[in-house]
Amino acid sequence: MRRIVCRQFGPPDWLTLEEAPDPRPGPGEVLVGVRAAGISFVDGLIVGGRYQMKPPLPFTPGLVVAGEVLAAGAGVPGLAPGSRVVGCSFGLGGYASHRVLPAEAVVPLPDAVPYAVAATAAESYGTMLFALTRRVTLRAGEWLLVLGAGGGIGLAAVDVASSLGARVIAAAATREKLAAAVNAGARAVIDYEADDLRARVREITGGGADLVVDPVGDRFAEPALRSLGAFGRYLVVGFAGGSIPRLPLNRILLENRTVIGVDWGAWSREDLAGNRALAADLLGRVAAGSLHPTAPATYPLERAAEALAVLAGRQVTGKLALLP
Ligand SMILES: NC(=O)c1ccc[n+]([C@@H]2O[C@H](COP(=O)([O-])OP(=O)(O)OC[C@H]3O[C@@H](n4cnc5c(N)ncnc54)[C@H](OP(=O)(O)O)[C@@H]3O)[C@@H](O)[C@H]2O)c1
Repeated sequence: MRRIVCRQFGPPDWLTLEEAPDPRPGPGEVLVGVRAAGISFVDGLIVGGRYQMKPPLPFTPGLVVAGEVLAAGAGVPGLAPGSRVVGCSFGLGGYASHRVLPAEAVVPLPDAVPYAVAATAAESYGTMLFALTRRVTLRAGEWLLVLGAGGGIGLAAVDVASSLGARVIAAAATREKLAAAVNAGARAVIDYEADDLRARVREITGGGADLVVDPVGDRFAEPALRSLGAFGRYLVVGFAGGSIPRLPLNRILLENRTVIGVDWGAWSREDLAGNRALAADLLGRVAAGSLHPTAPATYPLERAAEALAVLAGRQVTGKLALLP
């Protein structure tokens, strides 16, 4: 097998491409021939030693893969060689030509969903379907503000929320990202680097947003919190902007607001059955055409470092995937 290896925490260009013997599945496991590996923002944090979880060295980064079953260990019914699958759990080892996964972390992939779409949407759309159906109840017609709306999580938030009947306001920093959010269903857009985020949201909604989806944090968090109306909910998803903001408690007390954490990553590892059901639901909605993840830009395995650097540089609209 070919795989990307992190031998020392640091910048992506310290990663190496290495050969290793093909792994074999043990009891209850499947060996997947990886056709596409999703690239996530968090991969760069893990490789840099800047994530809350520091894996033992050396390791192969990469959380979600899609491909075909090459072999199944004992006690794995229903996953014959050749089956199309997506590994939906948030473990490591994805940047490789082969990956062994527990059978419970694998979901059948409908023919209508391409490998690269599945390998990226399982994380971004999985997170947002979890957030908007398990962490809050979203009512049709509610106004939802999405920060970083042209990124992986952001575009998934726009699409999932729109499909659930919400009216989405997309906030992002470039025309290209805002246009992508409109394509995904956003009703209104705000360039949050140029405009007053809070004032614009209040103007568009006529009183304040009902929900904020925040994968960016940093200096955008407080104006986003203050753009919420009465009983507004604030979903904390990530901190792509770099710094973890401190939200003033008085702004939560006032107007009966609620701040809610979203940790799909930990939940997907701990509740394999729950996450399998979520992933199957997600892939069914994509195959049926009610959710619309776009095809990611792709890189060959050996250019993983370059892809991670481009993503960290805020230059990507949508998602990236590796094709091993
Ligand atoms: N909670 C969970 O379960 C979960 C699951 C998956 C991901 N996440 C987290 O969610 C966050 C976003 O992930 P993602 O996949 O959407 O990443 P992404 O595709 O890179 O998008 C992040 C967006 O953040 C904005 N941004 C603002 N300042 C930035 C900066 N200094 N550097 C980079 N981006 C900046 C960028 O939009 P503009 O240029 O338009 O500002 C960018 O498009 C990450 O922190 C990730 O770890 C959390």
